[in-house]
Amino acid sequence: MSDFERDYPDHTQAPGYQHGDEVPSNRSANRNFYQVMEARVARRQFLIGGLATLATGLIGGSLAPKPAMAKAATSSLLGFKAVPVSYQDKVVVPEGYSFQILGPTGTPISGDMPVSRPGANTGAEQEHQIGQHHDGMHFFPIEGSSNDGLIVVNHEYIEPRLLHAEKPGYKGQPIGTHSVVYDAEGRRDDDEVRMEIAAHGVSIYRTTRQADGTWAVVADPRNRRVTSGTLVELSGPVRGTPHVRTRFSPDGTQVRGTLNNCSHGVTPWNTYLAAEENWASYFSNTDKIDQKPDLPREHARYGVSTSPRGGRFGWHLAKSGADEFVRFDASAKGASPLEDYRNEPNAMGWMTEIDPFNPDAAPIKRTHLGRFAHEGVVFAPATAGGPVVCYSGDDSRFEYIYKFVSAGDFSPGQTDGAILDQGTLYVAKFNDDGTGQWLALAPGQNGLTPDKGFADLADILVNTRLAADHVGATKMDRPEWGAVDPRTGAVYFTLTNNSRRRPDQVDAANPRAANNFGQIVRWTYEGGDHTATRFAWDLFLLAGDAGNSKLADGGALNEDNIFACPDGLWFDAQSRLWIQSDMGDVGPDYDGPLKPFGMNMLLAADPTTGEVRRFMTGPWGQECTGVVTTPDGKTMFVNFQHPGAQGTGAQFAAGEFGSGFPDYNGSVPRSATVVITKDDGGVIGT
Ligand code: FEO
Ligand code: CA
Ligand code: CA
Ligand code: CA
Repeated sequence: MSDFERDYPDHTQAPGYQHGDEVPSNRSANRNFYQVMEARVARRQFLIGGLATLATGLIGGSLAPKPAMAKAATSSLLGFKAVPVSYQDKVVVPEGYSFQILGPTGTPISGDMPVSRPGANTGAEQEHQIGQHHDGMHFFPIEGSSNDGLIVVNHEYIEPRLLHAEKPGYKGQPIGTHSVVYDAEGRRDDDEVRMEIAAHGVSIYRTTRQADGTWAVVADPRNRRVTSGTLVELSGPVRGTPHVRTRFSPDGTQVRGTLNNCSHGVTPWNTYLAAEENWASYFSNTDKIDQKPDLPREHARYGVSTSPRGGRFGWHLAKSGADEFVRFDASAKGASPLEDYRNEPNAMGWMTEIDPFNPDAAPIKRTHLGRFAHEGVVFAPATAGGPVVCYSGDDSRFEYIYKFVSAGDFSPGQTDGAILDQGTLYVAKFNDDGTGQWLALAPGQNGLTPDKGFADLADILVNTRLAADHVGATKMDRPEWGAVDPRTGAVYFTLTNNSRRRPDQVDAANPRAANNFGQIVRWTYEGGDHTATRFAWDLFLLAGDAGNSKLADGGALNEDNIFACPDGLWFDAQSRLWIQSDMGDVGPDYDGPLKPFGMNMLLAADPTTGEVRRFMTGPWGQECTGVVTTPDGKTMFVNFQHPGAQGTGAQFAAGEFGSGFPDYNGSVPRSATVVITKDDGGVIGT
């Protein structure tokens, strides 16, 4: 997440700016979601109400003002006592709940099971260990079990100083968050780069509940790492096209790695999709014309870095100059695209499918789902004989929400990922009156023609953002996760902030600078038909503190549930909505506008009553991301990513790492999964 960037010409100077964020790159004149929202507010049609009103009142545009409900009924879905806002460097769960740690960074899962040495492991070892910065995650039961399954977990990005804390150049040095060490020639150590590439990607490992009730990582032939160096197939309309031909893949069918895997999705055929979110800044394109950057539109619209070191870790500057590293230099260096890696960024920004039960199957990028900063993907419930529908947000400021509808029909037991290779990609337009439209991004539709610069379907997909600009999609405030209510079919999406106003513009009459705290939007369809191109939307809640928030019952958030910057979002089988906050690297010394909310947290909501309750808080510097339960709902897995990220360079030099989580033994903090159970053995949340 990050806040306020829109109002800062130099977005890196904005409060709340996170080193992981992409550079805003949408220069289109399309309307912003805040403009749409404010138009509704201005017309007193800002509806936060029940879904019945939403479905019946908004379709067709007849929207009656709705007074706030008197007081919400107490939810039968939420049976736990709220935990307070926390400023502690620890995990807090409600009374009657317990937790343990599972699979922190460095845990061996495959090969010769190299032992974890936090801060000292090699690249070769990391390739068989759980990666860093745990994010989206799913539990795939083995034979339906709630005691035995495969965890598949994304590793969004890395904290190099923690991966290398015990190595020369890092130990005892004032290394800031996100920084890497270059030698006197401006080159990087090969093994450090190899390790960083391996700490990205996805981990797949078996976990089993032991006799004493604890969960353990267990050896299994299906355990494997998919990293940002693993061979991946391209599939769908972009496969084999000139857009993705490189020195490594002259026929444009393969690429090495999936990159910056944020959230995920689970397909109706039980495979895993890993999203590629903030991938653009891993590349460097220094091509110039008249001393100015000269990037093709498929780089520029995504924010590919023009810095010689790129926007991240300078992997292309590894000392050896080996091909596996120089591919992150996207400059046109050779005589043709087959002699360099100018097209390498075109093979990133997709959804990557992984079959956790088939360790020999290469991951596959499904290009018909579009190319952007995919936060994740969520599928509508699939029905036999109908198309497959899924939704994905583009998490960068001013970007869009997309939907894919397959051409083929779902057939349980027969359908596989190939169904995602043909269909229609749409982008959302939100109207002021609470209705919305899905606009097709397809050749000849909505003005996407060759004379307007869109040669064919592959061209549209590689340039998804530009196509969405062209058709007039609504610019959203950083769409993060989506979730579909299993009971009603309503689709929920987190919008992590909506900062219209700078903090110094706040006055008594304009208190909505706190609107920077984000909101959750939801929509439904007439007849529950997810393939429909019209929908009805409202806001489920406005996050914030007691003076700057709104719940579905019309009331404000209170001490039991104030939170900001909704990010992770997941419905459990009983329709409990789990909400995770990502306020960035907040720690004990944080003193900005997000201070009232303490450390990042997990909350639960009842989508019917609108009630929200804080379930769990985490340690210093982390964000809370990735949540799933076993099928019986009795074991929950939650990730804490980047603990200690707020630690300064001076602290690092002194051997203070910003958090002790999860080992609390003086070694570097590590991202990890927290396993939560209820002491009475009941369903989590009850
Ligand atoms: Fe990776 Fe948008 O959070
Ligand atoms: Ca983050
Ligand atoms: Ca986020
Ligand atoms: Ca996220």
